Amino acid sequence: MSDSRSLIMLVDDNIASLMDARNILTNQYDICTAISAAGMIEILKTQYPDLILIDVNMPEIDGFGAAEMLLKDPRAARIPILFIVDNYDLAKYHAKLNSAAIGYVCKPFFGPVLIKRVETQLFMATQQLAIERQQQEFRNFNANLQKMMKDMSVLIEAESQRVWELQAAVISVMAEMVECRDDVTGGHIERTRRGIGILLHKLQEKDIYTEQTLDWNIEMVVQASQLHDVGKIYISDAILQKPGKLTDEEFNTMKRHTDYGNTIIDRIEAYTRPNELTRHAKIFAGFHHEKWNGSGYPLGLAGQEIPLQGRLMAVADVYDALISPRPYKDSFPHEKAVSIIKEGKGAHFDPILVDVFMSIAEEFKLLYKTVQGDNLRRD
Ligand SMILES: [Fe+2]
Repeated sequence: MSDSRSLIMLVDDNIASLMDARNILTNQYDICTAISAAGMIEILKTQYPDLILIDVNMPEIDGFGAAEMLLKDPRAARIPILFIVDNYDLAKYHAKLNSAAIGYVCKPFFGPVLIKRVETQLFMATQQLAIERQQQEFRNFNANLQKMMKDMSVLIEAESQRVWELQAAVISVMAEMVECRDDVTGGHIERTRRGIGILLHKLQEKDIYTEQTLDWNIEMVVQASQLHDVGKIYISDAILQKPGKLTDEEFNTMKRHTDYGNTIIDRIEAYTRPNELTRHAKIFAGFHHEKWNGSGYPLGLAGQEIPLQGRLMAVADVYDALISPRPYKDSFPHEKAVSIIKEGKGAHFDPILVDVFMSIAEEFKLLYKTVQGDNLRRD
């Protein structure tokens, strides 16, 4: 409520009562008067009182009708009301007054009571207004907060996408740099990456190994697969590019690229911290040469002991090795490669993954046509 005087409207057809109330209130409030509901509506066109006192007993439109008219008028609906009721009519109007849920004051007026009732009504109206303002402010704050959070999530999403793209680019380039050392024109990393993607999507489609892959971000796993041979960076050119068969000693050195891969990714984690991408990359690097029957390296794990990433890469890696020319062999046709993978079911490869591979072998065939590269690499 402002410091200025409140305006009280008195509505009563009884002029004596009207003057009586006016005399009691005029020291504290500005007063305007009307002798009927119609007069009240007319005054409301130019003035906005802080409180309206309405006599319940008026001809034509009584106080209850006048109150209804106010509630229906959007300009006046929020003005607080007090009914005026003659002491002698209290019993007559009691039920109606109760159901109207509007306060009342009795006449003939007793000055201090009328002043107190008006004060209280104005105070309550002020409080109600303050509560409504607070509620509106809270709604505005809430709306602003939600907008801010939405804006922030868009920014975070854009930033995450940028970081992800940068990370994917660095991994791809790193993998290509390693590949360049033992490939003539490359293509192996890209084909195995796509091969892993095809296998994983098929696993999801067929609900196979869902427990192991439940929390996997497939796109991230596929990215991580590119680092499976990153450990070859530590293998000498003399071994990597040797045209003939490796000696046992050379092959033992070659096998160590799995452990070297782990070491390199450990070093990456030392600069960042372990995350989903490096976790998958280490598994691909460390376990892609394990075999289902336990005859692989470096640990000689068997069956389900071999992490799923390693079992998946075993299929994709060997298929690509078979269809690619090597310093010591020509490339095999797709059908021959598929037949060798099938023969390795339960020996070299996870039998379930071989079945999945057989069901999508044509997609692998297409891979080699779309990602060319005269591989002369050595495993
Ligand atoms: Fe390898």
